Amino acid sequence: MRKKIAAGNWKMNTTLQEGKQLITDILNGLEQTPPGQKAGELEIIFGTPFITLPLAAELVKSNPQVHIAAQNCSNKEKGAYTGETSVDQIKSTGAEYVIIGHSERREYFNESDQLLAEKVNLTLKRELLPVFCCGEQLQVREAGNHFNLIKNQISNAIFHLDSDQIKKVVIAYEPVWAIGTGVTASPEQAQEMHAVIRNLLTEKYGSEIAEEISILYGGSVNAKNAKELFSQPDVDGGLVGGASLKADEFVTIINSF
Ligand code: PGA
Repeated sequence: MRKKIAAGNWKMNTTLQEGKQLITDILNGLEQTPPGQKAGELEIIFGTPFITLPLAAELVKSNPQVHIAAQNCSNKEKGAYTGETSVDQIKSTGAEYVIIGHSERREYFNESDQLLAEKVNLTLKRELLPVFCCGEQLQVREAGNHFNLIKNQISNAIFHLDSDQIKKVVIAYEPVWAIGTGVTASPEQAQEMHAVIRNLLTEKYGSEIAEEISILYGGSVNAKNAKELFSQPDVDGGLVGGASLKADEFVTIINSF
């Protein structure tokens, strides 16, 4: 059974103090309304800013369902790269996941497929789990090239992995036109793309492995639309931006499986 995952991507929001408060509020909310899924089937991930990682990892220790993610990592192992953060440094905070290839990193920081492949490799080498993001811009969808683009993004950055490695990857499909816009992909659009992605995984690695890989949807997920999105057969959860910054709303999203 593949994991169901509710992941928050806080982006460049929250000070250390605000982050502590947000985690405390979400954990309290989860105590009051524990998720329906059995422990082990559902994972909750907080993708916090780097500065928050050690504190976040400490705060969630009491809840085995909750894990911490960094939002990026360097493609270099260590050394004279001022301002970068290595996978070793991330690992040392207690974080377990690294979000790689978010469209904001691709667009604003010019991250190429090749660079993302290097980050994925380092993440796995350090026994961290990549949450690999892919997604098309509106004009690509309008031109009918969205399936091709996703195929390229995925095959260029993660299809060099072997079967044991690919099983550790979580894929997040995040159409760029749906991120932060309030325009969510319809459940049918999400399911359609997720099925295409699972099919690519099946062709490359076989159905047994493809069935084990969690594929998350991201892009304006909120407390109102999460249930319908998550009920699609190939949508295994969500990568949530804005709505993950509101404790009540994120708890409702977690309870939408
Ligand atoms: P959003 O962001 O939920 O605010 O649209 C999602 C993401 O970028 O991961």
